[in-house]
Amino acid sequence: MNMQLKRYGALLFRYLRPQWRRALVLAILVVANIALQLLSPQLLRTFIDSALAGGVTSGLIGLALAFLAVGFSQQIFSVLATYIGTDVGWTATNKLRVDLAEHCLALDMGFHNERTPGELIERIDGDITALSNFFSQFVIKIAGSVLMIGGILVVLTIENRLLGLVLAGYAILSLFALNSSREIAVKATAEERESTAALFGFVEERLAGIDDIRANGGGAFTLRKFYELSQHLLTAGRRAWIKHSLMWVIVVGLFTVGDLLSLGFGIYLFGQHLITIGTVYLFFQYTQIMADFVDELTHQLQDMQKAGASIGRVQELLSTTNRMVDGEGTAIPDGPLGVEFEKLTFAYGEATILKDLSFSLRPGTVLGLLGRTGSGKTTLTRMLFRLYDPVSGSIRISGVDLRDTRLEHVRQRIAMVTQEVQLFHASVRDNLTFFNRDVTDQRILAVIGELGLDEWFRALPNGLDTMLGAGGSGISAGEAQLLAFVRVFLRNPGLVILDEPSSRMDLATERLLERAMHRLLKGRTAIIIAHRLSTVRRADEIMILDHGTIQEHGNRAGLADDPSSRFSALLQTGMEHMAA
Ligand SMILES: Nc1ncnc2c1ncn2[C@@H]1O[C@H](COP(=O)(O)OP(=O)(O)OP(=O)(O)O)[C@@H](O)[C@H]1O
Ligand SMILES: [Mg+2]
Repeated sequence: MNMQLKRYGALLFRYLRPQWRRALVLAILVVANIALQLLSPQLLRTFIDSALAGGVTSGLIGLALAFLAVGFSQQIFSVLATYIGTDVGWTATNKLRVDLAEHCLALDMGFHNERTPGELIERIDGDITALSNFFSQFVIKIAGSVLMIGGILVVLTIENRLLGLVLAGYAILSLFALNSSREIAVKATAEERESTAALFGFVEERLAGIDDIRANGGGAFTLRKFYELSQHLLTAGRRAWIKHSLMWVIVVGLFTVGDLLSLGFGIYLFGQHLITIGTVYLFFQYTQIMADFVDELTHQLQDMQKAGASIGRVQELLSTTNRMVDGEGTAIPDGPLGVEFEKLTFAYGEATILKDLSFSLRPGTVLGLLGRTGSGKTTLTRMLFRLYDPVSGSIRISGVDLRDTRLEHVRQRIAMVTQEVQLFHASVRDNLTFFNRDVTDQRILAVIGELGLDEWFRALPNGLDTMLGAGGSGISAGEAQLLAFVRVFLRNPGLVILDEPSSRMDLATERLLERAMHRLLKGRTAIIIAHRLSTVRRADEIMILDHGTIQEHGNRAGLADDPSSRFSALLQTGMEHMAA
């Protein structure tokens, strides 16, 4: 518990310190509000008593005005406190969201492979939303409630010692009763949240795969699963709601007991002529306020538990370290890069995909990488881009071990055009520069010209401002590749990895691609996972992968001329069984 409090404190301190002034104003407003709430029943008592005693009208009017003023200020303070509290809470939680998102984005691919996007959204957004009250009002409200309850008990004890004692007992009992009754709904609420997360995770994944689902007639199955998950959410939600209602009944019951206690006492003491009718009213009013604050206090305690679970998860996420440690920062040289694999073995989890690979490429060489589907071609390129670290062995780029340089350098000097180019719902410009405003339009246009894409570019309705659809819809696979070429060219890397799409494309696009590829490869080292014969012909060397091992590696022309080579056999069949 102590450890936990310390962690809460550290988190509060870190995110509230930048806005301590507003937090202080908030605290003052809350305390002032409490003082006013204590004051107004006193005013009413005086009013009732002096009215019954036939007091002067002007005095009564004065009291009434004072009461109104107090009530009005209380409302104003409440509004201000809510406004500032919400602002403080959102500012703190948004900062935490940004920190978490940045942390997660910097984590290795292994981390991301293990989690669905839906799960991460829930962890980064859902958990933090549960913390907004914690950041804005938590400490103030707990301290405020304790102050208020204590204050009322003191005032009541001064009025009548026995009443003070009885109500103190009532306050403590209801605190416990309310606090334990809150537990009733915790499990059901957690289940409801889990169901929500499961449903959203499912929807997200299926939407991402909508093409394949449609194409394979998976619609009915998907909908059925959707119904199942929705049904689960419905029952879980209903259960949580019923339990919440039960809690509500308990709260109202306890309030009624409090009212009965104070009214009974008041009537009895009034009958004994020990107190005035105004004091009876005061008892009643104070008891009600006190019950409200006991309720508030248990809410806050409950919130602390919920916040505790969220904070635990947030801290777990923040302390997840990158399995990929950045190197010392040895610079990768300029110009075309050499590549050297040394006894490299790699596995995604259990299954070994690349086995003891050793080969090297001289700077400026174009390597055509061939192999059946699943043989590990894409995986090999991911290793070069350092999306994963090898299990054993190493990769050197122009003599620099990938693990000695910085990821940033790697991504600068090596460029990858993936099998399925990702495009975003944004302008062509942003898709090309990845939202980097430092890249001038002039430069983009120059690259487009250099790659021979002028004509294609002129056909765009709004030039660089042309918006692409969601996920780059409206763009063919070939065009997406062209855009990816421009991306690569803008960065001027020394090694280009090209994972060619296996899909067929129209002749015009194919011709454009060929021309662009020619420019792209000039003066660079390249590894091309080729699916088309025309691309294979660009390669200086050919390497054929089979089940993660090198089956053949050599000069393209030499292999093509050697009738006993795998490559020449492939050429004979027109690479047919290589495609797809
Ligand atoms: N992220 C991943 N996690 C786990 N296993 C993976 C992952 N990516 C690929 N694999 C597995 O690794 C093996 C090699 O996959 P890879 O994508 O490298 O093959 P490929 O040669 O590029 O195939 P294709 O020609 O179909 O693109 C496959 O068995 C695949 O199922
Ligand atoms: Mg592949």
